Amino acid sequence: MDIPRHLAIIMDGNGRWAKKRLLPRSAGHREGLRRMISLSEHAFDRGVEYVTLYALSTENLSRPKEELDGLFSLFRKYFAENIERLKKKGIKLKVIGDTALLPPDIAALSREGENGTAGGEKGTLVLAIGYGARQEILAAVNAAVRAGKELSQEDFSALLSTAGIPDPDFLIRTGKEKRLSNFLLWQAAYTELYFSDKLFPSFTNADLDRAFENYAARDRRYGKVEP
Ligand code: FPP
Repeated sequence: MDIPRHLAIIMDGNGRWAKKRLLPRSAGHREGLRRMISLSEHAFDRGVEYVTLYALSTENLSRPKEELDGLFSLFRKYFAENIERLKKKGIKLKVIGDTALLPPDIAALSREGENGTAGGEKGTLVLAIGYGARQEILAAVNAAVRAGKELSQEDFSALLSTAGIPDPDFLIRTGKEKRLSNFLLWQAAYTELYFSDKLFPSFTNADLDRAFENYAARDRRYGKVEP
């Protein structure tokens, strides 16, 4: 079965999952974190080489302080408890996004996590935190303008935060909405999209297997016709 080499996930619906259960939104994010860890390990076990997760968009940074503080505490907990585990499993961590927008200790933990797992050869886990695709594209355009030369697509890709990482083959968005929400706009030009109505904390490893079956049945032509 054809498994995507690079899987990207927009983890949407934590807040609604919590609301349905009369719990605070932070409980939804906590459950989302548990799901995120299990799903990414399952994806690597199935043979995926790159997993990219949208954990916080630039726009999410204008959420109420209380919710953001809760998310930042979760990120801290994640880095404190999971770097060793990633290392043992041979997974390299990469954080994309503008870490200057985050509390300085989280920026530092991200860097330490990247350095600590740099030797990983089994797979790459990309966490998008404080990430916005338009901001990423503009930064690359401005770098190109400063350099004063015309670029090829490859040159441009190399200026993005995902430099060196192949474009995503398959992108899953949970939580019913059908949009990209400023995620990987350049990189997703030929990505296969999959939308699930399930709220992220309810999206199981078996749901991921079903999504992979759906992916395997697709015909990726990249705009060309069958030979
Ligand atoms: C979207 O659901 C989810 C988020 C903004 C946060 C996702 C974060 C996690 C799953 C934890 C990640 C942790 C690490 C360490 C990367 P929402 O809050 O927009 O849900 P709603 O649409 O139902 O309100």
